[in-house]
Amino acid sequence: MTEKQRANNQFGPNTRLAHDGFNPRDYHGFVNPPVVHASTVLFPDAMTMDKRAQKYTYGTRGTPTTDALCEAIDALEGSAGTILVPSGLAAVSVPFLGLVSAGDHILVVDSVYFPTRHFCDTMLKKLGIETEYYDPAIGAGIAALMRPNTKLVHLEAPGSNTFEMQDVRAIADAAHAGGAAVTMDNTWATPLYFKPLDFGVDISIHAATKYPSGHSDILMGTVSANEKYWPMLTETTVTLGVCGAPDDAYQILRGLRTMGIRMERHQESALKIARWLEGRDDVLQVLHPALESFNGHEIWKRDFKGASGVFSFVLAESDPAKYKTKAFAFLDALRLFGLGYSWGGFESLALMVLLGDRTIAKAPTGGPVIRLQIGLEDVPDLIGDLEAGFKSARSAVSG
Ligand SMILES: Cc1ncc(COP(=O)(O)O)c(C=O)c1O
Repeated sequence: MTEKQRANNQFGPNTRLAHDGFNPRDYHGFVNPPVVHASTVLFPDAMTMDKRAQKYTYGTRGTPTTDALCEAIDALEGSAGTILVPSGLAAVSVPFLGLVSAGDHILVVDSVYFPTRHFCDTMLKKLGIETEYYDPAIGAGIAALMRPNTKLVHLEAPGSNTFEMQDVRAIADAAHAGGAAVTMDNTWATPLYFKPLDFGVDISIHAATKYPSGHSDILMGTVSANEKYWPMLTETTVTLGVCGAPDDAYQILRGLRTMGIRMERHQESALKIARWLEGRDDVLQVLHPALESFNGHEIWKRDFKGASGVFSFVLAESDPAKYKTKAFAFLDALRLFGLGYSWGGFESLALMVLLGDRTIAKAPTGGPVIRLQIGLEDVPDLIGDLEAGFKSARSAVSG
């Protein structure tokens, strides 16, 4: 931790977002860091080069721009070090590759982001690593699944698309007792609303593509490790040659400055809409951890400081043969909600969730599952749009 980080520790999250990462005095007082485009870094003489005795040595190993972002993320996560990678998915695959070897067994939550599952079931399988999926509600019971060769336990809470909560502390303690490293995809909450390292996680993973970017125009991942795993993480990223680009790093740092107030708005609007949906006859269930009716609500209340703007609901339909017709009619009637992947941007999005990959955390029954990302628009306008969707869904299956 730098002197400045230590001094900033006393401040609230928005003050820290405004002041962590980069010191204007380092660059003539300019408020933001320069965007340093670099492969080659020159050394003043052969001896310095031989000993690599200067702060920067090559573009893949960091620049003042990427350092500014990593410093800000470390301050948020409470981590010993952060690496930048080109996407949120790479923020999963890079630490996994550093942690496991042929013959290892890993435990991954069944409600995991689907491309993480795909990476485990294809690439890791090919490398001789066995992945076992576990129930998100397992808690300390994960001890029973630990084997002598279990090297990694991966969490994601809330789960992708269905938002199952996990008892992070209980799982991390059991995993450590069995000698495994603990990673967590914390993209939904951001480190503003949940700090994985404070709950025993070793490596916190974030798709900065979402809320830190905030504008649906940047792909980037951050991976933040505690003291124990930082040497492994930095060695892995250098070995693989995977690094973040300077323009993207600059934009993510820029996004962080306003992330706190954007998150407040996402949270407030999403909760208003979730509660409005709960009161409707054509909605069977709303899957949002901050709702009292949600199964994992007590864990969310105990461990998290807030909720973001993504959640799902079950559009009531008794006939499974009509699920798609009804969901498509709903989605096609939306004008403000775009149909697109990802989330965390300023604009609202909707899609029908596919959960055929699940083996334990099965899809809710009683209708298609629709995921909403609530953007920064005005709530009455979004509700009007959803009302049009419900009307169209009703008429598509009536008669
Ligand atoms: C939970 C979660 N983790 C990781 C990712 C991957 O991020 P990216 O799209 O930058 O690869 C996503 C993307 O949707 C996600 O939802």
